[in-house]
Amino acid sequence: MYDKILTSLSYGMCAVGARGKTSANACIVNTVIQISSYPMTIAVSINHSNFTNECIKNSGEFTVCVLSENTSGAVIGALGFTSGRDGNKLNNVRHKILQEGAPVIQEDICCWFLCRVVNTVETVTHTIFIGEPVAGSETIKGKPMTYDYYLNVIKGKAPKYAPTYLGEEEEEVEKFTCTICKYEYSSVLIPFEELPDTWSCPICGAPKSVFKKKE
Ligand SMILES: Cc1cc2nc3c(=O)[nH]c(=O)nc-3n(C[C@H](O)[C@H](O)[C@H](O)COP(=O)(O)O)c2cc1C
Repeated sequence: MYDKILTSLSYGMCAVGARGKTSANACIVNTVIQISSYPMTIAVSINHSNFTNECIKNSGEFTVCVLSENTSGAVIGALGFTSGRDGNKLNNVRHKILQEGAPVIQEDICCWFLCRVVNTVETVTHTIFIGEPVAGSETIKGKPMTYDYYLNVIKGKAPKYAPTYLGEEEEEVEKFTCTICKYEYSSVLIPFEELPDTWSCPICGAPKSVFKKKE
């Protein structure tokens, strides 16, 4: 009943990453906020079903990469619409791994910081991780991407596990399958045909040309 008025809240677009058991993982979030200045704490809300939740709980740390308006929609497609449980999503996203094992995305982001978890709050569907920044970039580059920019300029959508998901009917989108690893591309964000020829499978790295349209 409060769905409509809650759309008046503002958010920023970030990728949150953490060390996994075998490799690092990251997902897209719009729920990073600063909680306090002294001590400096920030919070992020991560759905229990997201692999990133498990990775943060296991490692006790997470990175926040603030996306800029120049960050490609394909990065949001790769990190926000597929799960690290199905393969290493970072294979196709430029990044570095910190010595702590958490990833920092290097796709035209504004800045990044590493947080140590100091508290968690469980809700029915999401864990709120409260963290203290312990490292980060020294400068901010470009203009941070707001959630409003993502919705109204990029024309993106919130998937099922995003806190702002409203459960509306899913738009009918054509699906394209990677003939190598069977990864299915079906983003409402960028139709498959509009992906650049240099685009490759976010899971196995195979070129766009090996994808077949799912009938
Ligand atoms: C615009 C946008 C905002 C999102 N915000 C959140 C969020 O704040 N919290 C969350 O748990 N998932 C959020 N998601 C969904 C996750 O990014 C998505 O479920 C992802 O596939 C999880 O990957 P993982 O299983 O590898 O962790 C968002 C996705 C998008 C595209």
